[in-house]
Amino acid sequence: MRIDHPLFGNKSRKTVSFSFNNEIYKGMKGDTIGVALWANGVKTLRHSEKNNEPRGMYCGIGQCYECRIYRSDIGLVKACTTLIKEGEKYYSLEE
Ligand code: FES
Repeated sequence: MRIDHPLFGNKSRKTVSFSFNNEIYKGMKGDTIGVALWANGVKTLRHSEKNNEPRGMYCGIGQCYECRIYRSDIGLVKACTTLIKEGEKYYSLEE
């Protein structure tokens, strides 16, 4: 679900395609990976190493590392602070 600004809407934002665990998603230019996945209904970004419990965004400001995932070209990134880019591939840590 995405909430549009009552005055500005989202008309000026372009759609960006990216993949997460080999599934193709669309987000809006300027979205972080976490926000774009959340808007697509994806809230589990990985599973905990110890108990295999689902993990997603927690602090949302780059402090807790709960949202860590892999980006295909550089490795570990924080989904809450990394902006999506066209065609990029992201994976859960267990992939
Ligand atoms: S949600 Fe805490 S670092 Fe991303």
